[in-house]
Amino acid sequence: VEAALADGPLKGKHVLVTSGPTHEPIDPVRYIANRSSGAQGTAIARSLAALGADVTFVTGPADVPPPLGVKVVKVQTARQMKDAVDAALPADAAVFAAAVADWRVANASGSKMKKDGSGNAPALEFTENPDILASVSQMKKGRPKLVVGFAAETDDVQANATAKRKRKGCDWIVANDVSPATGIMGGNENAVTIISDEGAESWPRLTKDQVAAKIAAKIAEALA
Ligand code: CTP
Ligand code: CA
Repeated sequence: VEAALADGPLKGKHVLVTSGPTHEPIDPVRYIANRSSGAQGTAIARSLAALGADVTFVTGPADVPPPLGVKVVKVQTARQMKDAVDAALPADAAVFAAAVADWRVANASGSKMKKDGSGNAPALEFTENPDILASVSQMKKGRPKLVVGFAAETDDVQANATAKRKRKGCDWIVANDVSPATGIMGGNENAVTIISDEGAESWPRLTKDQVAAKIAAKIAEALA
């Protein structure tokens, strides 16, 4: 609450942040999901609020608790996340830090799937989820002035992230290398490159809180 009342460069600005994984049900007791602690998205929302922003935080089931001083909207699936984002708009800026499941199970079962004793495993069918970042980036009316996407890559980080920015139509992509050798995934630190129409800006390896503070400050500068 204190953070929401903070005076700062983002006072009066509404910023939407998505964070955490989404969970896509297989049946009432099972799901598929991406790996995401929600730590980086949570830290960004906290930093934005500390700069005075009015923050709507749309989060999947994350490991870390949501920050204080923001409006929290909890969701499970990608489709619920999209509905929550649409309902939270308009916003001055939107930051898509969530690790959204690209596919959901098309033949999800309403009741618990049981082993039938034959030793055969069930066949899951998948269907693509809506791309929330792309849909907001490509809005014809009422698009946030600044749309920020993330790209967690394991190979050709900068090339993949640059192509992703073009394809989605967002203003910035925050790219990072999550290959196992970096130890970034699941840790406290992050090493990111910000890709914008001005090129690529690489920051040193910092704590996720420090990365969040720098991203929030850059957003404040862009909205000023
Ligand atoms: N994203 C989203 N909705 C989706 C998928 C991704 O909003 N259904 C957002 C993520 O929050 C992130 C950005 O898009 O900000 C990039 O996600 P990423 O998974 O790297 O991109 P994809 O287009 O899904 O490509 P890939 O095949 O590399 O997973
Ligand atoms: Ca993806």
